[in-house]
Amino acid sequence: ASIVEHSFNVEDVTVRKLCREQVITAVNESLPGPTIRVREGDTLVVHVFNKSPYNITIHWHGILQLLSGWADGPAYATQCPIRPGESYTYRFNITGQEGTLWWHAHVGWLRATVYGALIIHPKSGRSYPFPKPYKEIPILLGEWWNANVIDVENEGLAVGAAPNISDAYTINGKPGNLYPCSENDMYELKVKRGKTYMLRIINAALNNQLFFKIANHSVTVVAIDAAYTDPYDTDLVVVAPGQTTDVLFKADQAVGSYYMAAHPYITTPPTTVEFDSTTTRGIVVYEGSTSASAPVVPTLPDFFDTPRAHQFYTNLTGLAGGPQWVPVPSHVDEHMFVTFGLAVERCPENATCLGPLEGRFSASMNNESFQLPNKTSMLEAFYRGERDEVYTTDFPDAPPVRFDYTNSSISRDESLIYAPKSTKVKRLRFNSTVEIVLQNTAFLTVENHPIHIHGFNFHVLAQGFGNFDAVNDRQKFNLVNPQIRNTIAVPVGGWAVIRFQANNPGIWLVHCHLDVHLPVGMAMAFEVENGPTPSSTLPPPPSDLPRC
Ligand code: C2O
Ligand code: CU
Repeated sequence: ASIVEHSFNVEDVTVRKLCREQVITAVNESLPGPTIRVREGDTLVVHVFNKSPYNITIHWHGILQLLSGWADGPAYATQCPIRPGESYTYRFNITGQEGTLWWHAHVGWLRATVYGALIIHPKSGRSYPFPKPYKEIPILLGEWWNANVIDVENEGLAVGAAPNISDAYTINGKPGNLYPCSENDMYELKVKRGKTYMLRIINAALNNQLFFKIANHSVTVVAIDAAYTDPYDTDLVVVAPGQTTDVLFKADQAVGSYYMAAHPYITTPPTTVEFDSTTTRGIVVYEGSTSASAPVVPTLPDFFDTPRAHQFYTNLTGLAGGPQWVPVPSHVDEHMFVTFGLAVERCPENATCLGPLEGRFSASMNNESFQLPNKTSMLEAFYRGERDEVYTTDFPDAPPVRFDYTNSSISRDESLIYAPKSTKVKRLRFNSTVEIVLQNTAFLTVENHPIHIHGFNFHVLAQGFGNFDAVNDRQKFNLVNPQIRNTIAVPVGGWAVIRFQANNPGIWLVHCHLDVHLPVGMAMAFEVENGPTPSSTLPPPPSDLPRC
């Protein structure tokens, strides 16, 4: 194993996109930022220099961070932000996972432009559980605003309304030729006929799940969230914010050119949620093709095609027994039932509130609207044994009342719609096994929320629509070869059941990966106690850990 070292200069740069100049915050002046390549077992060291005017942190999305919680990155959860002019070095080992992950800013909406791919190859001498592709290509799907994203976020938060929707989607930072002034701002992939390519698809968009397709070509999914899957052939990929999907794609069509395209999968009827209904395009160009014939255009599903999305998501299974496979823990120590959805905060006196019910948008998990602290990080409080001022350990194992979660008229119940703000964690004993029923609720809107857990991969045992049925739905659990993920798009008006082992001491955030929902409270955290030995205890913080 080796040490892989990078320097990230985070600074504001001016770019030209969609007919205008825009100042964005970027890493090493590139959008997306640099691709990091490591091998399983390596140590990654990234020196982050904050030359931007904003507080910054970097999160290594999906990295297990075994005993390295200080490097996880979510602001005020595991560290105070790196202030302008300061720096911090993230250092961690990469063990037990292979495939595609990514990194992104984890403070405010900065991740709109501060993100990049993190690719984990097998150890040297080990191979993929499929034939080696001719080339591997990161495909980062993103979202773009014709405005400063921090302003967009703050304007929304100031009046308690949903912030403005994006102006474009992008493939590797480029919107493609369906947008104004973007004829030449389109991602191009050159291929040789007969060769097989691996596309490492990452959904780095802030607020939208995406359908992705290449005209006339089907693909084979081989990994998701840096865990191998059984090979799955499909012409459509669906990917939620936070998730990754690795596909093999054979250039087996006539020499020519073919568009790849992505547009949103929206789970709420168009009348209730506004969304960016545009399409981003890239182009696959075969070697030897001439510009004589027009590129072939793919047909994406309807924005609201939940059956297609559900079919894709549920057809994936884990590669049981393959490299880095982890069997499903058979014994469960902690059973949790976690509901989540939108909520409302009453309008503070003398404030302007343009959110629902004349109040402000809020969100909750088990009726608690999660607030990050702002004077220290939760992990520092945990380490020093001084949590009392910072958070409490009484996150409930179930919502306060049971009800029909799929019925939106429940929003008339004030105790449920006006969720209290709190910073509550669920405390877990080291190595305990946790099973969580994740249940969407229908307050205000019914949506599909991509729920992400820091620090752990989990098995997805089952998922479905409606209210989880503890008797019948348990029969559907896949305990043999379930998919392994770090982010699960819980079906709209439905549920998913996940299981993981809490083998990593520290503070681990759990949250919706839609950036419209995280800052308003659709989050909670786990506090995993130290184990009995030094090798199961969180080490002291690095000396350059930023101070608040
Ligand atoms: Cu990809 Cu808490 O984030
Ligand atoms: Cu959400």
